[in-house]
Amino acid sequence: MKVINNILEITSYLNSFVSTGKKIGFVPTMGALHFGHLTLINTSKDQNDITVASIFVNPTQFNDKQDFEKYPRNTTEDLKKLSEIGCDIVFMPDEKEMYPETDSTKFNLGKLEEVMEGKFRPGHFQGVAIIVNKLFKIVKPNNAYFGQKDFQQLAVIKKLVSTTNSTVNIVSCPIIRESNGLAMSSRNTRLKEEEFDQASLIFSTINQLSNYIANNKFSDFKTWVISQINENKLFRTEYIEIVDTETLEIVTDLKNHKSITCCIAVYCGQVRLIDNIQINL
Ligand code: PAJ
Repeated sequence: MKVINNILEITSYLNSFVSTGKKIGFVPTMGALHFGHLTLINTSKDQNDITVASIFVNPTQFNDKQDFEKYPRNTTEDLKKLSEIGCDIVFMPDEKEMYPETDSTKFNLGKLEEVMEGKFRPGHFQGVAIIVNKLFKIVKPNNAYFGQKDFQQLAVIKKLVSTTNSTVNIVSCPIIRESNGLAMSSRNTRLKEEEFDQASLIFSTINQLSNYIANNKFSDFKTWVISQINENKLFRTEYIEIVDTETLEIVTDLKNHKSITCCIAVYCGQVRLIDNIQINL
């Protein structure tokens, strides 16, 4: 496995593969890798000749400075995991390499910036779009892999590809969960044991959505979820929303929707956890 820190080096290294017609798969990450990330790498390995992963904790997507500072960083372990799984190239730039100067690019993300994560984390998706756009230009992958865990991020990446006329094919990968149902996340390492155990409540609660629909109680669902989760003193629901899976438009009536996604953000102390569940109607 080749670890590369600078743009010139990775560009020329990758050029040698592209000129021989090899397909490049790309998995952007912020490190602190868990099995969810490794599943993306495996999918890329199955579908491409060369798999590139990037590790970069991107400052511009953190609307909360403390969250950026406390974001888990574990490079040695990450490189070990990537090497064991057979990743070909790891791009691990520093901040100066990615941001030689302040980047004030603004992408047109439309309504995606106004709901859910966009509403509660102002500027977050512009930061994601800025870094992913830079990485796509450097790596020039055929395919790029993103997890459904970050459902709204996936929609942002698809919008980015469309507004920038990019030819990168975006592959959406299913959510990988802990055995108690909690969606795997780098932030889970910041949970105490009791918090980790009880955080299974988040998925078990939103997982009731299909029952609420079957029992014609859809309109009660959001209020019920908030009461269930907030009843546990360890947790505080920031938002719960049910949106159309394709358009992300807020669903008030199930008519006219083929698929809906229930998205939730919950604070456990300082740790912010997100999850979602998709239901095809
Ligand atoms: P990060 O949180 O490290 O996630 C990297 C990729 O792994 C994302 O596509 C994310 O959706 C996916 N992922 C995380 N947890 C997952 C899980 N439990 N199951 C499936 N996939 C999972 O997302 C980012 O980094 C950044 O915003 C990034 C795109 C790298 C831009 O900085």
